[in-house]
Amino acid sequence: MRISILGGGPAGLYFAILMKQANPRLDIAIHERNRPDDTFGFGVVFSDQTLATFERYDPESYRAITAAFAYWDDIEIRFKGTVHRIGGNGFCGCSRRTLLMLLHERCRALGVALHFSDDITTLDAFAGADLIVAADGINSMVRERHRAHFGTTVDLRPNRFAWMGSTRPLDAFTFCFRETPHGIFIGHAYQYEPGRSTWVMETDSATFERAGLAGMDEAATATFLESVFAEDLDGHGLITNRSLWRRFPMIRNARSVMGNVVLLGDAKSTAHFSIGSGTKLAMEDAIALFESFQAKPSVTDALAHFEESRRGEVERTQHAADVSLVWFEHLDRFWNMDPRQFAFGLMTRSKSITYENLRLRAPDFVDEADRMFARSVRAAGFDVNVEKPVPPMFQPFRLRGLTVPNRVVVSPMCMYSATDGLPGDFHLVHYGSRAMGGAGLLFTEMVCVSPTGRITPGCAGLWNDAQEAAWARIVGFARAHGSAKLCLQLGHSGRKGATKLMWEGMDRPLPDGAWPIMAASPLPYYQDSQVPHEMTRADMDAVRDDFVAAARRGLRAGFDMLELHCAHGYLLGGFISPLTNLRRDEYGGSLENRLRFPLEVFEAMRGVWPSDKPMSVRLSATDWQDGGITGEDSVEVSRAFIRAGVDLIDVSSGQTTPAAAPIYGRMFQTPFSDQIRNDARVATMCVGSITTADQVNTILLAGRADLVALGRPHLVDPAFTVRAAAQYGIALPGPVQYQAGRDQVVRTAAAAAEEIIELRRKAKPKQHAPAPLRAAE
Ligand SMILES: Cc1cc2nc3c(=O)[nH]c(=O)nc-3n(C[C@H](O)[C@H](O)[C@H](O)COP(=O)(O)OP(=O)(O)OC[C@H]3O[C@@H](n4cnc5c(N)ncnc54)[C@H](O)[C@@H]3O)c2cc1C
Ligand SMILES: Cc1cc2nc3c(=O)[nH]c(=O)nc-3n(C[C@H](O)[C@H](O)[C@H](O)COP(=O)(O)O)c2cc1C
Repeated sequence: MRISILGGGPAGLYFAILMKQANPRLDIAIHERNRPDDTFGFGVVFSDQTLATFERYDPESYRAITAAFAYWDDIEIRFKGTVHRIGGNGFCGCSRRTLLMLLHERCRALGVALHFSDDITTLDAFAGADLIVAADGINSMVRERHRAHFGTTVDLRPNRFAWMGSTRPLDAFTFCFRETPHGIFIGHAYQYEPGRSTWVMETDSATFERAGLAGMDEAATATFLESVFAEDLDGHGLITNRSLWRRFPMIRNARSVMGNVVLLGDAKSTAHFSIGSGTKLAMEDAIALFESFQAKPSVTDALAHFEESRRGEVERTQHAADVSLVWFEHLDRFWNMDPRQFAFGLMTRSKSITYENLRLRAPDFVDEADRMFARSVRAAGFDVNVEKPVPPMFQPFRLRGLTVPNRVVVSPMCMYSATDGLPGDFHLVHYGSRAMGGAGLLFTEMVCVSPTGRITPGCAGLWNDAQEAAWARIVGFARAHGSAKLCLQLGHSGRKGATKLMWEGMDRPLPDGAWPIMAASPLPYYQDSQVPHEMTRADMDAVRDDFVAAARRGLRAGFDMLELHCAHGYLLGGFISPLTNLRRDEYGGSLENRLRFPLEVFEAMRGVWPSDKPMSVRLSATDWQDGGITGEDSVEVSRAFIRAGVDLIDVSSGQTTPAAAPIYGRMFQTPFSDQIRNDARVATMCVGSITTADQVNTILLAGRADLVALGRPHLVDPAFTVRAAAQYGIALPGPVQYQAGRDQVVRTAAAAAEEIIELRRKAKPKQHAPAPLRAAE
């Protein structure tokens, strides 16, 4: 088989090595436009995990790489005069030039043909090759010529960055944050060989403009940055080498194969430098393509296998990189945080590091962060232990006159089990057991304010005395036996009304017994759904009064808190989203107009809800659809509700239209909570695929939310919080009847948690360097 490789970067070289090593008879040639010792950039980074993979695939090159790298274990964060060091992060840095030379050497030894100074302008040069590997980097000629086929998207990020070097020795991967009169600058720095470190400089585009960097040449830029990072550089200068300011392109391709041509490395997919994975991703691509040829000897089958098998992993890395780069793009959001919270947020930004695994690596740092959190709780007036604090999820929280005993919330969940809106025994048991399960706050399902405001015939309501009495019974039981505070969620179904029970066909129209529905605009949810009637002002008056009447009933029933449901495409959410509100009157058009009616309802409810009791609003922070609500819009929406007296934004997303394309994943809605909390400066509750105490603590300690709600986990485990507390050796107060069970779970959970920690410790990859390299004197 003849293999032609375009591009002699890490991806092309490593693929050639693996293939040739497995099958010396292969005819492999690499065509590279640069000379062998030309190189741009400074160092590259690999984690312990990546090195372990290299060792498995080609021990020879692994040995060569590890003999020439600098190793470090710590991440250092330098922020506003503080320095935090977090150990256990096992990374190595290696000069890109050395890496390429080592790979050249290995190629030569195996018999791969290397053609340097060979600028390829057309794939015709490779006629007759059985396989063409386009490993031609970020500006790939092959990809650019066939963008339509590959389905290329390039998301050019707004921040500016430049790769630079320095002689400054560093014994940790170092993040430096510096504020100047122009704005904030970030240095991502690490040593890659004795006396040499990489410095990736980053800033936002407004700061870039204000500092006049657009007009500076490389030397002037270096001088400017030397003054910004003078303290961090400690007397050393910056070195440039084609250190031009760029904007990072997040490159994605729907397909990576075209006939016998395959894209590899940066040509196919990039990962932002802040997760240090560009070279790793390229070399792992090479490994995956090699594995596909091991699994399927024919070119067609192997490429199909590669296309299929590689995608998930790359998407996960790119998603982590996306989350990470967004963190750096929104530094102003976190700038005023306590330095420990800032550092914790930085460490946990891309979800792979959490409260628990950070505790394994850096227990002192996490203890310090826990104490910081406890001190902020004490500053809010709670008499909590700040020296030996409980984890953040068990710290109390105050909203107006309401004290929520801990930060775990049972999310609102429709049970579709009421008769004519009347909650029955199922509801008493359902809410009663969850109220005794340890969560600090328990939401009702969406309780509908009128019979025609129901989603389904099974939805619970609060428009008559019998319903009020039934809710009062539930509240009374919960209060007598549980510790959770109780929040009533009120809503109106809008265009999603008169639909089937969830398990019979969610959002599908009722075949019989449907009632007339209304909405901001006469748009059916599905094509075959009932067309809602466009609300008139008289309808608005009636709906507002229904909300107010239900709020009064909720107060009499004894609820502690009230939430207005403005999410998920129901009536009020339908007003807010431009996808579902096409009105031309003062209730449609601009965001201000679209918010008018939801705000009117909120204010009317606020007027009858006692001033010492809190109110929240549930929002769909994004519609997950072009032309719909975005995170930025939701910050504005939140600001409007803050002005109207809201105490907490309950941040959900989507479900506005069936065309939405959400990106799911663990904690997938948390970034919107982070954005709203830290941009609009309001308390938030986040929710969505949060399933463990570890995740809850990570979110809270990083300042991404104030409360964390769990929906589905509570459907199977009403006592989620009791169990979570037990893991930390905490026995939550609860019904005396269940005391023996709680005592036992505390004893057994602590031992089980210890076992898991031990297993994780053992599963940690071995460290790959005997000792860090010293800087050249
Ligand atoms: C300026 C710059 C500096 C960087 N510095 C660092 C760094 O310090 N550390 C780090 O971890 N990452 C760095 N990166 C990112 C990192 O280099 C990439 O993520 C990684 O190298 C991707 O490997 P690759 O093999 O896919 O592509 P590349 O390493 O980009 O290799 C592609 C190769 O194809 C060659 N080529 C392209 N077109 C043609 C053609 N038509 N004919 C012949 N040859 C061609 C190029 O010359 C290049 O050598 C840098 C990137 C850039 C652009
Ligand atoms: C069965 C079910 C019913 C739900 N009903 C409601 C509801 O009545 N009101 C509401 O705002 N959200 C409702 N949701 C959304 C949840 O509150 C929550 O946001 C969602 O399930 C994501 O959280 P999770 O991943 O923890 O389950 C419901 C979710 C489920 C699974």
